[in-house]
Amino acid sequence: MKRFVVGNWKMNGSIQQIHEFNQLSPRHNVISVICPPACFIPLFNPQHIHVGAQNCHHQLSGAYTGEVSAEQLKALGCTYVILGHSERRAQFTESSELVNHKASQAIQAGLIPIICVGETETERRESRFKHVLSSQLDISLSGINLEQCVIAYEPVWSIGTGLVPTTEQITEVIELIRNLKGKTTKVLYGGSVNNKNIKTIVDIPALDGVLVGGASLSLQSFQEIINAFQGE
Ligand code: PGA
Repeated sequence: MKRFVVGNWKMNGSIQQIHEFNQLSPRHNVISVICPPACFIPLFNPQHIHVGAQNCHHQLSGAYTGEVSAEQLKALGCTYVILGHSERRAQFTESSELVNHKASQAIQAGLIPIICVGETETERRESRFKHVLSSQLDISLSGINLEQCVIAYEPVWSIGTGLVPTTEQITEVIELIRNLKGKTTKVLYGGSVNNKNIKTIVDIPALDGVLVGGASLSLQSFQEIINAFQGE
């Protein structure tokens, strides 16, 4: 089974960095994906790495100034698109309903959506996280063929904070997702993954891979994370 290492560059990165990333060594057991800002997508060498977007619009085309459609991303060479990242849910008030519309556009365009779900610190502390995750999953994935997408569990409290849930906590959520959505659902973990803590995360047997933010901006740390999944 191949596992995923997906880098989310957010609104970071430069053309110089892309030239460096085009030297990345692919590993045969790992599906490596970088999701840069959309304008940089065509600059990656698809022989070294898959490319994904960080968002797409929920309509096919039209008068939506500043937006990019799933079809246009596909035409640029994208294979994946991250949808429903907590930063988009919080900063751009994206609802699970909207994420659901985006996911169907993405699939129709031939992209594989990576759909993010995750609870806040308060929701976990108040033991409401299972309810929150179930609701995000139900609405975001309504009518979506689970074989055509990937789920990323990203607790909001772990993103950019250095806090990583325990193996037990991650495993509990993977089981919740698979109980709700089926045993073959692909589940990634994201939140403060780096080249130092990756060894522990790789050892979670039920996990299909990781979604990496900050540590995906350095070729060395991203390559070390990929190598950890290869067993090096
Ligand atoms: P982080 O971000 O790895 O910097 O915590 C992860 C993400 O937002 O996907």
